[in-house]
Amino acid sequence: MASLSIFTSSLSLLLLLSLSFLFSKEAAANSLEAQKQREFDYFAFALQWPGTFCRKTHHCCSQNGCCRPEPLTWFTIHGLWPDYDDGTWPACCSHTEFDIKKVSSLLPTLEKYWPTLSCGSTSQCDGSRGSFWAHEWGKHGTCSYAVIQDEYSYFSKALELYFKYNVTEILNDAGFFASNAEKYRLGDIVAAVKHAVGATPELVCKHGSVQELRICLTKDFKPRDCLIHSVAEDNASNSRSSCPRSVSLPSYEPLVLPQDVSAADSAGIWFS
Ligand SMILES: *[C@@H]1O[C@H](CO)[C@@H](O)[C@H](O)[C@H]1NC(C)=O
Ligand SMILES: *[C@@H]1O[C@H](CO)[C@@H](O)[C@H](O)[C@H]1NC(C)=O
Repeated sequence: MASLSIFTSSLSLLLLLSLSFLFSKEAAANSLEAQKQREFDYFAFALQWPGTFCRKTHHCCSQNGCCRPEPLTWFTIHGLWPDYDDGTWPACCSHTEFDIKKVSSLLPTLEKYWPTLSCGSTSQCDGSRGSFWAHEWGKHGTCSYAVIQDEYSYFSKALELYFKYNVTEILNDAGFFASNAEKYRLGDIVAAVKHAVGATPELVCKHGSVQELRICLTKDFKPRDCLIHSVAEDNASNSRSSCPRSVSLPSYEPLVLPQDVSAADSAGIWFS
């Protein structure tokens, strides 16, 4: 009898625990959604330089832009990010799940210009792993609600900006090309973009190579200076961007993705 009542009471405790776990999870989700994050101040349109990412590629799969037979020698899209003027940013503002069907008409363009540069999945707001696009939409896109209300508009706006501000072309026209031999003055790169776009960009480097270039825009998509506009002229050490005075725009040799592993490549194969 005693053991039976212990059994039933521990069973009900277990039930209670799992129920309260469910409720607290839901409550947390609802309060996150209810707790309206402060409206953002501006957008950063973040572009990544594949040469800097793809030199580290040891692992190929068909989704990975680094594994295309021709090396990417132009900036690709990272994301369109709502930001605050104080240097912080809102993230994961609502539980609007990414639905690839909503951007089906954009897919060929997204695949071309907004590829993931790795084979791994990307962390999502709820802690799960998913696609790069789902990550950008969930973490940043949902926070642009004051200006962009839905997923299709988010991705199409980013593509529109990408075509409008062709940073690769701006740099090429100013004499900056993908190269493992050349070093360029950061100030010259910043000046070229500033001249063409009308506002100062932010650059992010890794080991002296340009990793990312960001153009900042007001909420009505007029170019504005990014917060970090001292990187070019000032000490590299006083900015969070780690760009030295002279930087490179590296190129890379793509790993060859063998044809015969197409069945296995979605699982990700190590070729190194
Ligand atoms: C950007 O400019 C480069 C260099 O002129 C060109 O090859 C590329 O197609 C352009 N990209 C887009 C998205 O228009
Ligand atoms: C450069 O760094 C030095 C020492 O870290 C600092 O005193 C100086 O103000 C910096 N210069 C600029 C322009 O930020």
